[in-house]
Amino acid sequence: MDISSQRREYTFSGLQRDNLCNNPYEQFEKWFSQATQAELETPNAFSLASVNNKGIPSLRTVLLKLFDQHGFVFFTNYSSQKARDMAENQNIAALFQWLEFDRQVKIQGRAEKISSAESLAYFSSRPRGSQIGAWCSHQSRVVSSRSLLETQFQAIKEKFKQQEIPLPDFWGGFRIVPQSIEFWQGRENRLHDRFKYTRCDENWEIQRLAP
Ligand SMILES: Cc1cc2nc3c(=O)[nH]c(=O)nc-3n(C[C@H](O)[C@H](O)[C@H](O)COP(=O)(O)O)c2cc1C
Repeated sequence: MDISSQRREYTFSGLQRDNLCNNPYEQFEKWFSQATQAELETPNAFSLASVNNKGIPSLRTVLLKLFDQHGFVFFTNYSSQKARDMAENQNIAALFQWLEFDRQVKIQGRAEKISSAESLAYFSSRPRGSQIGAWCSHQSRVVSSRSLLETQFQAIKEKFKQQEIPLPDFWGGFRIVPQSIEFWQGRENRLHDRFKYTRCDENWEIQRLAP
């Protein structure tokens, strides 16, 4: 298969300094709202890159569940590979792609565990099946069979059948505290618009980058 001719022009929109919000979270909210309103497929999915203490990178998709002026929060298993990487090395990168809008947002920063009270608030809002599923998975470890997972699911369901499912102590959220956030808008002839916000104390410096 020849894929070398697969290409398209990016004509959806442009990004101008004058129209950018001074605060990157407001700019993110603007783009995120547009992606949500347009009913793009899973607009809160993003790629999260971690690097362990040997410098080996690893990448996976996770879901954004909350963002505010403090950062971007996702939830996971605290014994997973990503969590082990982040315990060794807090530096992470994240990438949102909204390709229908010719857009990507690239974030670099540090990952911090959120409080168990914050994790509990989110965990309590999840469907019961997802709560039980969190208890059953030793995420990223080798598992001998699917039937083992299903047996564990039934056992946990039975164990907690008369009560609310408690928050597992090995499950919770991480907050990405960004050092920089870049907004990329594809343009014609590959002259894309790129604006990078870099944290300077309490403020953000904004620079245009070459495409
Ligand atoms: C659309 C999508 C959403 C996902 N959301 C999450 C999530 O929010 N949290 C999570 O731990 N894993 C999520 N996963 C699974 C991860 O990509 C990954 O398989 C898992 O977290 C184990 O990663 P690790 O071994 O690198 O730690 C999602 C996968 C996909 C495709």
